Amino acid sequence: MKITAVILAAGQGTRMKSALPKVLHPICGQPMITHVLRAAQTVSTERPVVVIGHGAEAVRDLLKATARCVVQDPQLGTGHAVQQAEGLLKGKTDLVLVAYADMPLLRPESLSRLVETQQANPGPLTLLTVRAPEARGFGRVVRAPDGGVLSIVEEADATEVQLKIDELNVGAYCFSSAWLWDALRRIPLSKKGEYYLTEVVGLAVRDHLPVQALLSDDPTEAIGINTRLHLAEAEAAMRLRINRAHMLAGVTILDPATTYIEAGVVIGRDTVVSPNTHLRGNTTIGEGCSLGPNTIVEDTVIGDSCKILASVLEGAVLEEQVGIGPFARLRAGAHLCRGVHMGNFGEVKDSTLGPGTKMGHFSYIGNAEIGANVNIGAGTITCNYDGVRKNPTEIGEGAFIGSDTMLVAPVKVGAHAKTGAGAVVTKDVAPDTLVVGVPARPIKKLNEAKDDKAH
Ligand code: UD1
Ligand code: CA
Repeated sequence: MKITAVILAAGQGTRMKSALPKVLHPICGQPMITHVLRAAQTVSTERPVVVIGHGAEAVRDLLKATARCVVQDPQLGTGHAVQQAEGLLKGKTDLVLVAYADMPLLRPESLSRLVETQQANPGPLTLLTVRAPEARGFGRVVRAPDGGVLSIVEEADATEVQLKIDELNVGAYCFSSAWLWDALRRIPLSKKGEYYLTEVVGLAVRDHLPVQALLSDDPTEAIGINTRLHLAEAEAAMRLRINRAHMLAGVTILDPATTYIEAGVVIGRDTVVSPNTHLRGNTTIGEGCSLGPNTIVEDTVIGDSCKILASVLEGAVLEEQVGIGPFARLRAGAHLCRGVHMGNFGEVKDSTLGPGTKMGHFSYIGNAEIGANVNIGAGTITCNYDGVRKNPTEIGEGAFIGSDTMLVAPVKVGAHAKTGAGAVVTKDVAPDTLVVGVPARPIKKLNEAKDDKAH
């Protein structure tokens, strides 16, 4: 059976008071519409259709890989919006699953229950409802004394009695395609001059066709976004949902209320996340790590058994057993091999630190290839930028870089070489050689065995 999701995203979102189209406002790191689309994709057997209007180009750019877009112009209501998909879908799908892009907390399980219920329903449609103490301007679900659904009334059109109804229309429906398109044409114009999709419920009932309503068991599903207050509510609800899923999968989160994990982040078992930790973007974390407190990790891969304390990591790769912080910063292209230790006030960018290398205090390493078991003394700096271009630094394995060494790139320091404290290295240093001074000059050849013992 062919099932096609249609997501409505053409509305302006005036109450957001924003230059950004409403459906592109992020929630837990991803545009609002991405959450709805991801949920819809779990049930849509065909490529989903998104109805766009306000901010159409930006929305189309975001979605072009995953969905087909149709433009609704002018925007004459949710019923009119669904009509825009007729050309693409009439005769091409059995069921049409409609959801609104401003309902980011819709769960895939609810959508699949909706589809299953409609598959068992001989009538034209099934809709999702929720019971909530606060109506938030939602349409009310009117039922007959026998419990059957009669209609949905929008708040502006509801009577005093209807306003008290606590069963609300979530705005997710599964329709029989064979019935839908003609029904849309019969929707009357509302007082506000719009064609409301919700009117098709009353139309079906008047035709004596059965309408099924499925009650959601998760009231957070009804957090739709009309204002920035709703945006914060949705963010909080989704954050707890994400954190819960990680905890149930074996991650310890000491304080879920202050732990900010974006949708899509992967975390291994027995990792402990401390308060005020933000895990963002395309981030993967291994097993048995300790993250935070006060840590930001973005677009970064962290191996097993790493310890990251009060640090900021962006675009980095850490192998296993790496220790970072407090107060370290890793930028794009930082690759720290197994067992690297990086202490306070260090910065690494576009560089590889070989296995077991130590960088304890106040250093900047940029555009550098550093071998295994190198000791980078306090205050070491790769002077990688000459005002025009970024120049590379190479340090061989087992080298010992003395405190406050300036490595004026491009420059190479050979394996097991040493620089004295305060050296300004402007020329390549041969392996097993000690250099000192400004500019640094070789003063002796080192005994390799002795040198190894020294650190
Ligand atoms: C709608 C429902 C209401 C439900 C609520 C739940 C209708 C008439 N009302 O009200 O019963 O309780 O959602 O979230 O459907 N859109 C278009 N084109 C348009 C108008 C809207 O694409 O011409 C899109 C919007 O971008 C939005 C969605 O449809 O994503 C819902 O529109 P909105 O104006 O937010 O409807 P509500 O007033 O919230
Ligand atoms: Ca809405």
